[in-house]
Amino acid sequence: MGHIIAIDGPAGAGKSTIARALAARLGYTYIDTGAMYRAIALWAARQNIALDEAHRIEQLARAADFALPPGRILLNGEDVSESIRTPEISGAASKVAAIGAVRAALVEKQREMAAQANIVMEGRDIGTVVFPAARVKIFLDADASERVRRRSADQPEVPADALARQIAERDARDRGRAESPLVQAPDAVYLDSTGLTPDQVVEEILRIVRTRISNGHSE
Ligand code: DC
Repeated sequence: MGHIIAIDGPAGAGKSTIARALAARLGYTYIDTGAMYRAIALWAARQNIALDEAHRIEQLARAADFALPPGRILLNGEDVSESIRTPEISGAASKVAAIGAVRAALVEKQREMAAQANIVMEGRDIGTVVFPAARVKIFLDADASERVRRRSADQPEVPADALARQIAERDARDRGRAESPLVQAPDAVYLDSTGLTPDQVVEEILRIVRTRISNGHSE
């Protein structure tokens, strides 16, 4: 098992931007686990499987073949990176992610991905469930209004008040579910990115990485 940097936090906290930049700086593999839940939600929608058909969705999660080249996701060989970013799939992914058996299937795949490489993995349960022994755990947060502003920049076509509602609903579901809810691991460092540039956040995490992984020595 390589080194693992776990980054968890709510929607719009900047996890993807930060995790991708951090992985590039360290030469680690970047893994966006939210994209995996989104891809299962997309596959279910295409198959007309309702979100309460837990067993059928679990079967998709078990059968799914993922490849995650930097910043993209391939589901069964098809690049679905853009198709998974619609508001409908965001909502559906959060519902799919509440199904325990779906989580079990995807967590197994996430653990396999870390068997060979050093990774930066982002999601909601990476430091608590997927890799509870990760050396570096960051809980990345930002003010609700800033998180809506950031998502607005990605999705200018959605009115800001609708986006604010969607994010609030999704966070409430992700934090309130019975299975692996979004919660800060006791040994995670809480980092509030409100008002910070991505570079500043990455530098701060690199400082934490140096203390926790290399401890001042090169490896
Ligand atoms: O990070 P994201 O917005 O792409 O994630 C999509 C949904 O998937 C989100 O509502 C919560 C869920 N998710 C999860 O439950 N566990 C993860 N490790 C990653 C995402």
